[in-house]
Amino acid sequence: MTDAPYAIDRLISAKEIAARIEALADEIETEFAGTEKLVVVGLLRGSFVFIADLVRELNLSVEVDFIETSSYGNSTRSSREVRILKDLRGDIEGRDLLVVEDIVDTGHTLAHVLTLLRSRKPRKLRTIALLDKPSRRQTPVRADWIGFEIPDEFVVGYGIDYAQRNRNLPYIGKIRFLQP
Ligand code: IMP
Ligand code: MG
Repeated sequence: MTDAPYAIDRLISAKEIAARIEALADEIETEFAGTEKLVVVGLLRGSFVFIADLVRELNLSVEVDFIETSSYGNSTRSSREVRILKDLRGDIEGRDLLVVEDIVDTGHTLAHVLTLLRSRKPRKLRTIALLDKPSRRQTPVRADWIGFEIPDEFVVGYGIDYAQRNRNLPYIGKIRFLQP
């Protein structure tokens, strides 16, 4: 399956992503206007490009930390089991947090991460996802801010991979498998 030839069709351009991030950053600035230093938590690895662009649009004092969960492996199927592969470096008790996710698909990853982070008693916890596939949801979770709602397609680019490939595409594309 991973070796099957495929094409990538553009779904969201780099320009559209940049414009959306500017608008979202304004809303986030308003929400965290009273925060001394915001902890921006990226979910590795898919959010690394998004978080890099997002923090540079935030006119706020921020720290950046990362958490890594196990997810897809090398297939396009999600697993229900979410494990923490790499935890935060910093203590978040009493802090204001923004969790940055690439895609909310079944919702299991975000739900699991939010439960874990809430148990550490942050003062405020908000979430942003670049992409949302609401039709795929298996657990009721929603990010506070969403870049784009997309249909049930497998997407790559802008940090998001298919079997570790295509993370470096500057836009979001959808995978289309070619007939052999
Ligand atoms: P969830 O736990 O099913 O919500 O999945 C979340 C994770 O699955 C995302 O953070 C992505 O890393 C991965 N994922 C979901 N949909 C896609 C996709 O279309 N392309 C690549 N990765 C995806
Ligand atoms: Mg991910």
